[in-house]
Amino acid sequence: MVHLNAPHVRRQAVSVTRKMAASLPGLRKLAQDRGLKIHHLGAGYPHPEVTDPRGFLAHQAAYFQHLEQVEGLNDPAAVPEHLRESFSYTDTLGPLTTRACFARVYGADWGVTVDPQRLVPTVGASGGISLMCSLFERPGTPLAYITDAPTYAGFLARAGLAAHARIFSVEMDEEGPLVDRLRAQIRAARAAGYDVPFYYTIPDGHNPAGFSFSQARREAVLTVAREEGVLILEDAPYLYINYAKAEDRARPFIAMAPEQTVHLFTGSKIGFPGPRVGFLYSEATLAISGGEEASLTELALIESSADILFQNPGALRGFEALLHEMDFSERRSLWPVAEGKLTVYRENRQIMMDGLAQGLGDYPELFHWTHPGAGFFTVFTFLKQNGKLPVRTDDAFVSRLVAEHGVVVIPMYDFYPRDARERDSNAGYDQLRLSFCFSESVGDQRRRDLREAVDAFCSAVRDESGLR
Ligand SMILES: Cc1ncc(COP(=O)(O)O)c(C=O)c1O
Repeated sequence: MVHLNAPHVRRQAVSVTRKMAASLPGLRKLAQDRGLKIHHLGAGYPHPEVTDPRGFLAHQAAYFQHLEQVEGLNDPAAVPEHLRESFSYTDTLGPLTTRACFARVYGADWGVTVDPQRLVPTVGASGGISLMCSLFERPGTPLAYITDAPTYAGFLARAGLAAHARIFSVEMDEEGPLVDRLRAQIRAARAAGYDVPFYYTIPDGHNPAGFSFSQARREAVLTVAREEGVLILEDAPYLYINYAKAEDRARPFIAMAPEQTVHLFTGSKIGFPGPRVGFLYSEATLAISGGEEASLTELALIESSADILFQNPGALRGFEALLHEMDFSERRSLWPVAEGKLTVYRENRQIMMDGLAQGLGDYPELFHWTHPGAGFFTVFTFLKQNGKLPVRTDDAFVSRLVAEHGVVVIPMYDFYPRDARERDSNAGYDQLRLSFCFSESVGDQRRRDLREAVDAFCSAVRDESGLR
């Protein structure tokens, strides 16, 4: 055993999702002992029905073979270019062919001219979050991250690693963050001596808030960001997991103001999470020390090569295959790929919405839930009766839902940053996050399982609210 003095190393709090995962086997046993079936409305993973990699692997192999044919190597001993690139050290920017192809396809889908030289590969969106935090934390000066209340657990976990960084959060209504609060929080942070590099958010299919920001609110947020000189860090994993009609979709910040935005693309939901493909994209320029100016891309690249965020060229070349049709022509859009996923998620969302309306729609004064325009989640809220909440959605409550009703859901309180909970000690204790993305079953059984899960949830809620 080595004893080291490390007085500045802090143990981070365990997230509620991890705590839930750890306590689940025991709770599941309790439920099963009572003869209850376990209903999954907790996990936020892509559905196995749309993440079978075998079709993709066959297409990837055929695409690589096609590349070799196009290359026309005469020497059978020569190593094909894609193989050499996939297994060598590459530039921090990774393979150019993948970036060039992604820039064209993604740019066309979202109406942006994407410059491949500004696409910085990241280890998924998580890598992009980490890269942005690392970049601004590096000087060691007091730092304030502005984000929503509630916000993504992965961002809270990463932001919590730096002792000199603090979160200033902004409450939301059904359209997005409250812009007056956004401005006030930026100013409060600066008045308290913090630098404010960015506002981190998930405008489409917000995890965990379960809705997408309106176009009007995005514009108001952008105005504040411009006036206050703050970047918008746009985490966009659910951009394509979108239920709105094309003409009703709001625009991502990257399409509205690439010079004010840092956009995080991930292949985890449109493709597969395992290969950890992602890109950070921005056209922002920063005034840095010594009165100099630098592009955010350049700073992110330098930070990336000093950090652990090196991309995997093989995974990127594999992602390139996804950007090509079966006949190896370049895709014009990623929407047909999304459609392959959306058939399941759209159906699941409808089952969830219909089930909630059927089971609890008679009590609009007691319960509310979001109608997600994108993503994997709806947020369920217990409304106050005579100024009082019927339940408190704490750990004991969600454990009881598993043990007594077999229903697994995630409490919301842990997604509220600490400052939001200091302002309101009840923040999130009236809410649950229900996910409709994941189940162990497929096809008709998936539909039946989800219907049963939503029914079981509604019945548990009626029970817990004293409606029986
Ligand atoms: C808002 C948000 N950001 C980031 C991630 C993680 O993305 P990745 O798998 O690309 O790291 C998720 C995944 O659940 C998410 O919901």
